[in-house]
Amino acid sequence: MEERVFAEVDQFIGETIVREDEALRASVEAAEAAGLPSIQVSPPQGKLLALLVRLVGAKRILEFGTLGGYSAILMARALSPEGRLISLEAKAEYAEVARRSVERAGVGDRVEVRVGPALEALPALEQEGAGPFDLVFIDADKVNTPGYFTWALDHTRGGGLIIADNVVRGGTLADPSDPDEATKAQRRLHEMLSEERRVEATTIQTVGSKSYDGFLIARVKAA
Ligand code: SAH
Ligand code: DHB
Ligand code: MG
Repeated sequence: MEERVFAEVDQFIGETIVREDEALRASVEAAEAAGLPSIQVSPPQGKLLALLVRLVGAKRILEFGTLGGYSAILMARALSPEGRLISLEAKAEYAEVARRSVERAGVGDRVEVRVGPALEALPALEQEGAGPFDLVFIDADKVNTPGYFTWALDHTRGGGLIIADNVVRGGTLADPSDPDEATKAQRRLHEMLSEERRVEATTIQTVGSKSYDGFLIARVKAA
């Protein structure tokens, strides 16, 4: 099986059950034009996020890693109208591109993009009482995924979801000798969750236009 086939299947899925509308396509084009890396979730992955938002009836979402706003738009559209999504982005110029695309997609009133390293944004969120969140999507700097997850555990309601992208990393997740810090962090996260009684979790390996990777999906147990 080759990468080409994975991408072709994503394309077919995109032409049938997962359609991008004009605003979503425009967000990808705006990100490309501004020189942002093309590392947003694939359309089928984004649809999974949107379905999960609907399944938990999420009203409050926290996202780590905005990029050009692609996943934020998909999740925000799946929120109930009174719902809110806060997205944390380290780079001011990415956040600006994202804000414009979010506005164009008609969800500007529900989405707030905050600029700065995510770890530094967390104390303010706590002080404001921004949580508890119904869904947290972790997709920023991968070495900090375990740290973000730990914070999310304390700020997600029972029955809520914590989702982390890019945990399989071309299969290196299973290699204890892999020297990459981002991979080691995902191994640590899995080891941590093997002992964590507050969540039920799984990791789903994915292929597609974004090659071989995977999502970790954890449900916080109701108290
Ligand atoms: N969720 C997006 C993709 C995010 S890509 C989507 O699917 O559309 C990862 C993003 O995390 C990049 O935009 C990067 O600038 C940002 N990032 C990296 N380190 C970060 C940090 N410490 N805090 C917040 N964002 C960070
Ligand atoms: C990268 C980041 C992502 O969130 C992703 O899904 C793929 C790649 C990266 O930083 O290279
Ligand atoms: Mg990602």
